[in-house]
Amino acid sequence: MEIIIKATAVEAQHEAARIIAAQVRGKAASVLGLATGSTPIGVYSHLAELHQKEHLDFAQVTTFNLDEYVGLPEGHPQSYREFMRQHLFSRVNIPAHRIHFPDGLAADIPAHCAGYETAIRQAGGIDLQLLGIGSDGHIGFNEPSSSLASRTRIKTLTPRTVKDNARFFGSVEQVPRHVITMGVGTIMDARACLLLAIGESKAEAVAGMAEGPITADLPASALQMHPVCKLVVDEAAATRLRRADYYRWVYDNKPSWQRT
Ligand code: GLP
Repeated sequence: MEIIIKATAVEAQHEAARIIAAQVRGKAASVLGLATGSTPIGVYSHLAELHQKEHLDFAQVTTFNLDEYVGLPEGHPQSYREFMRQHLFSRVNIPAHRIHFPDGLAADIPAHCAGYETAIRQAGGIDLQLLGIGSDGHIGFNEPSSSLASRTRIKTLTPRTVKDNARFFGSVEQVPRHVITMGVGTIMDARACLLLAIGESKAEAVAGMAEGPITADLPASALQMHPVCKLVVDEAAATRLRRADYYRWVYDNKPSWQRT
């Protein structure tokens, strides 16, 4: 895992956007796995800026979002589809027919989940998967105890995640208890992963995922087994990393051809 520590949240978000932009410039028809939450908002703003100012072209890009709440009506302001429309899709030129989400209103959820996996395969697989991390170490909505081989399926949120996400809904009661999420195994199939973590509230989860044991107790730790995974953090999220100095040393001594 390559661990990149940036001084500020904005710098970390720009670094993540640069990595995504390099992917799209290198392969115009990239398949991107996308994430929601407050962390990637700055990434999406920067991508929109690169689209406007530097003509970063998304015309051939296909996207698959990681997860969606179950049961929120179409257009609900807290649905992840709406989040993505607001922060990215309304600002860049990804064709609507190549944007994919789990459908939280599907009548047959298991069949829909199987279909989502098929759609990812038919698109050629995910080239680059963007991820955030929950304070309990979840990725997508793969809560602690998720199988590290899991595929897209329904999950029940932990009370901690419900509480963490209540800030978007106004109250804990309004947060759905169920979600559809790509599995850890689905995420691990991506050719490359990029996890962005910002702020002190993520420091413990970040240290666990990068330096702790690989365990279903902290699903993001599965990424230690991923051959092409970058972890981008700001200083606040890096405070619990034991080998932070080594990661900085590696980054500073990176050969020029490896830089984005
Ligand atoms: C949700 C999302 C995750 C995200 C996490 C952290 O649970 N399903 O994909 O990583 O929130 O969100 P935030 O970036 O707001 O801390």
